[in-house]
Amino acid sequence: MKLVLIGPPGCGKGTQAEKLCKKFGLPHISSGNILRAEVAAGSPFGKKIKSYMDRGEIGPQELITEVVLEYIDKHCPSGFILDGFPRTVYQAQELEKRHSIVAAIYFKLAKKEILKRITGRRTCKTCARVYHIDYNPPKKRDICDACGGELLQRDDDKKETVENRIKVFEAETLPVIDFYKSAGILKEVNANPAPDIVFNEILHLV
Ligand code: AP5
Repeated sequence: MKLVLIGPPGCGKGTQAEKLCKKFGLPHISSGNILRAEVAAGSPFGKKIKSYMDRGEIGPQELITEVVLEYIDKHCPSGFILDGFPRTVYQAQELEKRHSIVAAIYFKLAKKEILKRITGRRTCKTCARVYHIDYNPPKKRDICDACGGELLQRDDDKKETVENRIKVFEAETLPVIDFYKSAGILKEVNANPAPDIVFNEILHLV
């Protein structure tokens, strides 16, 4: 199974990808996590993309596309849940050349809720597991339940950057939704209810 999860920042793509991967035994490919790992490692590629990520922009998309597609080839050519990729029509076309996507799930969420979710999000520095201070708190404050790692706020989760990420989503990623609609594989999900309800809706759709 090859699934794509699309939606504005903070709509719950990562949260649902984790649940889907557990259920279907598939790898979770998050382009954001791949890029953040490059930045944290200080690689030449990481240095190149850091300023774009800090501003919530897309950056050198050909290069990023190549890195993500190579990652897929290396780790999971036969099935995956893709989260955060594709983000532009160019990326969707390049993905389509190599992989046949069975469904693209579009998470719909209002801006007010996006801001609430992102400002309360905490991410494990070690294993990248995601929490929320109110909606999904860890058992011990600022400590990951899964690995004991430190929970931090992402650098791009400041309010101004999130506003820009929403604008970039509307300009660059909404056309990807039309791309999958034309291909007849777009499924829409209301991302507003609690995670388990959203998950059941996705299972019903796929
Ligand atoms: P990326 O990491 O992909 O960020 P994003 O798409 O903005 O999405 P987020 O990770 O912010 O949110 P999410 O939808 O996964 O929500 P989550 O599950 O965490 O990209 C970051 C940057 O990297 C980009 O700006 C860009 O610069 C670069 N980049 C990435 N991919 C790229 C690409 N393909 N090309 C070029 N550049 C790229 O949930 C959010 C919070 O809400 C959490 O706290 C969670 O616990 C909580 N929550 C989740 N679901 C619910 C629910 N149903 N109810 C209540 N709370 C919930």
